[in-house]
Order: sequence, then structure tokens, then C-alpha cells
Amino acid sequence: MSLLRKKSLDRINRESAATHHENSLKRVLTVKDLTFMGIAAVVGAGIFSTIGKASFDGGPGVVFLFLITAVTCGFSALCYAEFAGRVPISGSAYTYAYVSFGEIIAWIIGWALILEYAIGNIVVAISWSGYFDNLLRGLGVHLPQWLLTDPFTASSAFNDATAIQTAGKPLTAAMQEAINIYNSAPLLAGKHIFFNLPAFIIVILITILAYIGIKESKKSANFMVIFKIAVIIFIIVMGFFYVDTNNWKPFLPNGFGGVLVGVSAVFYAYIGFDAISTTAEECKNPQRDLPKGMMYSLIICTILYILIALVLTGMVNYSELNVTDPLAFVFERLGLKKTGYIISISAVVATTSVLLVFQLGQPRIWMSMSRDGLLPKKFAKVHPKFGTPSFATIITGVIVAFPTLIMPADLVTDLTSIGTLFAFVLVCLGVLVLPRLSAAETKGKFRLPYINGKFLIPVLVAAFIYLTKDRLFNAFAALGNESYHEVLFIVFILVSVFIAILSFLKNYSVIPIVGALCCMYLMIEIPANSWLWFFVWMSIGLSIYFLYGRKKSKLAKE
Ligand code: ALA
Repeated sequence: MSLLRKKSLDRINRESAATHHENSLKRVLTVKDLTFMGIAAVVGAGIFSTIGKASFDGGPGVVFLFLITAVTCGFSALCYAEFAGRVPISGSAYTYAYVSFGEIIAWIIGWALILEYAIGNIVVAISWSGYFDNLLRGLGVHLPQWLLTDPFTASSAFNDATAIQTAGKPLTAAMQEAINIYNSAPLLAGKHIFFNLPAFIIVILITILAYIGIKESKKSANFMVIFKIAVIIFIIVMGFFYVDTNNWKPFLPNGFGGVLVGVSAVFYAYIGFDAISTTAEECKNPQRDLPKGMMYSLIICTILYILIALVLTGMVNYSELNVTDPLAFVFERLGLKKTGYIISISAVVATTSVLLVFQLGQPRIWMSMSRDGLLPKKFAKVHPKFGTPSFATIITGVIVAFPTLIMPADLVTDLTSIGTLFAFVLVCLGVLVLPRLSAAETKGKFRLPYINGKFLIPVLVAAFIYLTKDRLFNAFAALGNESYHEVLFIVFILVSVFIAILSFLKNYSVIPIVGALCCMYLMIEIPANSWLWFFVWMSIGLSIYFLYGRKKSKLAKE
């Protein structure tokens, strides 16, 4: 049973009271700051970059994916808000799982959250570097490509191009460039050197800001948010005049299957509203303000995203959108070069703010884990002058900065989405096992409305199975063909039926159950190959727990 030892809410409240002493984090954040920080974390590489391919695959119908994802995130955000109203200490989903499921699940979540924050920030930094290069080129500064590329991408592009060349086939301009880039890289011990220097430098700079203080970080985040939101509203308003409704026909050129290809990319664009829950100990009134901050930021981002997706797919034909800078591209494509350039500046600012909030979130989760004894004590050290978790902030900086030098971005996006969805599922399910509070206990705090799911959940699950019956039949027919994707779909249907039966028997609340099911559904749409890496990652985490955390845990000593 010791694997499932739990922290009680009383204990959490005692710990929270203990954080109100001098050498603790500084309580400066208000609802407005939290909303801004939420937007700072959400609007970034996703909307400025990864949605290009999602729109290309799904056509204008990608808007549906933005809606489905918004509903999924909305339900999850409500569950996060319920926890944030009860648990006023840093640690986000990790601490929430400690309260509801017990230690080992909390550790698993804490480990999965590293995928969302630290590993996720590797992608953001790489994307930042791409936009930064665009900006410099606009100013006439051309950095050598070996300082902008990771070695894996450079050598695989080179090998592909030389294979074509050896086969005597004609090379495209991009292939020729890949060969030139490779050959122009300096040699060290006979090997061509490549690394992504701007990505490394920005992570170091952001780490310094996060180290110096939450106040400084807050001010910078607020400024960046105002700028990027202004540009996004400008894109929507200006783009609206260039929409050609013929581009919306057909709305679903590749069917719903084409839309679903973009799950990971679109979900990635929404990640971040949950990150503000790591700042609970820096909020003036976390139980009242955190739930509001999360909900407001999610609502604002959803409205902006849906409008952007409509404008983007209305301005040019979806088939042209397979680019890494879609928002700048559509304006440049219509001859508006200067506007495209302003969008590139804004993309750099937007991704900087995402980096900042995630770089703040990771150390605060580690700080909570360390206080519970699951990580070494140093991770909980608060800087006497700056009032930030200084050691954990530096370690986060190192863990993010060095891989940005040499890692390719694609696999990492999927891993970030799986890790985050996994945390969302457990937060949603965790709400179901929380003790009921009296009216006096919930006064002034957010409460998740209870809607009895006895009949509603089985009806929803039955309707889903009916609507996807063709896919289910096909999945059964494909069994045995190594089609892991279809196996995941069948597993999802079985789990849904099981949850529907439990809901009927136990009158489960609708919002957390639908939230968890929607997250599971998005998870199974992510390619099986990335799942494999996810399991490898989780196995490493579990080994560390059994070697260290299980014995060192504070709860083990009581
Ligand atoms: N939602 C964040 C972004 O799109 C992670 O950059």
C-alpha cells in the first residue's frame, strides 16, 4: 500500500501556511497577471508554426479540431480549477495526484510533466530559433546554417540528397542546399559540426530572467502578451478582408480522418493554461484567482484560435499551408511582405513568452517534489534575495539548453502532447475521488458544478460508438496487421464502455468523465512510434522512483 500513500488536504493546508514566511516565494500575482501568464504560455509555436501542417492535412475543417480540442481543454481546465481551489501550493498536477491517487501516481505525473515543460520547451526554443533566423535575414544578417541546425537533421537531409544524386536523379533546390550546408560546416576531428546556437542562447537568457525573480518575469510576460495579442487581432482583422470563401470549399477535403492527423499539433497550441497552476505560492489568493486565470486565458485563446484558423484557411488554399510559418506565409503569399515581417517579429516574442512560463513552471514542480522527499533537498532551495527556486531553475536551464543544441524537433512535439494529455486525464479522474466539501469550506473558492452522469455518460459513449462504428469494424478487421493505431482505438472504446458502466453504477460527475475521455481520445490519435518513446521515458522515471523516492519520501518516514 505504501506505493499509494496520499497527502491529505489538511497536510497541504499546513504546508501552504508554512510557505507564508520570509524565505519563501514572493506573493505578487493577481487574476490579471495569471490570465496574462496563461496566454503567455499558450500562444506560441503552436499557432505560429505547427498548425500549418495541420491545416494542410485537414483543410478548413481543422476548425473542428480547434473546437474539439478547446472543449477537451475546457473540461480539463475546470478540473484543474477545482484542484487549484483546494490545493494552494505549487506542483500543479503532481500535487493534485498526490492528494487524490497517492505517491506513485503523483511521481508518474511529475515525471510526465517534465515532457510538457522541459522537453516541450526544447521544441519551443528550436522554433524560436527558426523565427529569429527569419528576422535576421529580413535585416540582411545571414548566420551560417551550421549554427542554426541540429546534426541529425543536417546529416539526414545530406544523406537523402546524396542518395538521389548517386542514383543519377535530378536534385531539387532544397536538396542542393542541404548538400551545400553540410559541406560548408567546419570540421572537428574529421566530423562536420552542427548546432543550434540561437536556441541555446535564448534558453540561457530566459533562465537568467526566471532566476532573478517572479516580478521581473511577470512584467516581461505581460508586455509580451500585449504585443502578441495585438498582432493576432491585427492578423484576424486584416486577414478577414482577404478571405476568399471559395477556399473553404470543400470544407473537409480529406474527410474527418485528415482533420485528426493534426491532433498533436493543435493540442500543442493549447498547452500552457495549466502551467500557471505551478505558481500557486506566488499568487496573492491562489484558491480564488488561479481557477479564474486558467479559465479566462483558455477562453480568450480559444476565440482567437478559431478565428485565426478560419482566416488562415480562407486566405489561401489549404494545400499551400504545409509551411513552418503559416501566418507570415499567407500574407507574404498575397504580396504583403511587410505584414509578414511584423508577424515574424511577433512569433519571436510569442515563443519567448512561452519559454519563460514553462521555464518558470518546471522548477516549481521539482520544488514540490523535493519538499515531499522525492527529489534531493537542493531542488527546494529558495534564493534568499530573489525568492525563486534557484537551484531547480538552473537545472531546468541546463536540461533544456543543451539538448536544444543538437535535438531535432518533430518527435518531441508528440511526446509533449502525450505527456500533457496523460496529466490531464489523471487530473480529471482525480476530481472524482476528492472528498466533498461543505458550503462553508468552499466559500470564495471555485467549485466544479456536479452534473449527474448516470444516464448522460452511457448515452454519450453509445452515441460515440454509433458515430464511429465504421472505424470500429475496420479496426477489428485490421487486427493482426500490426496496425497499432487501430488497436489503440479498440482499447479506447473498451475503456469508454467500462467508464460508462461505472458512471451508471456510481453516478459520476459528467465534466471530469467527459474531460478524461476526450483527452484519452486525443491521445490515441498520436502516432504509435511516439508512444513507444513515452513508455521508455516513463520506465526511466519509475526506476528512479524505486531507487530513490520510495525510500526518501517524507511520508515513508511517518
Ligand atoms: N502552447 C504552446 C505553444 O504553442 C506550447 O507554443
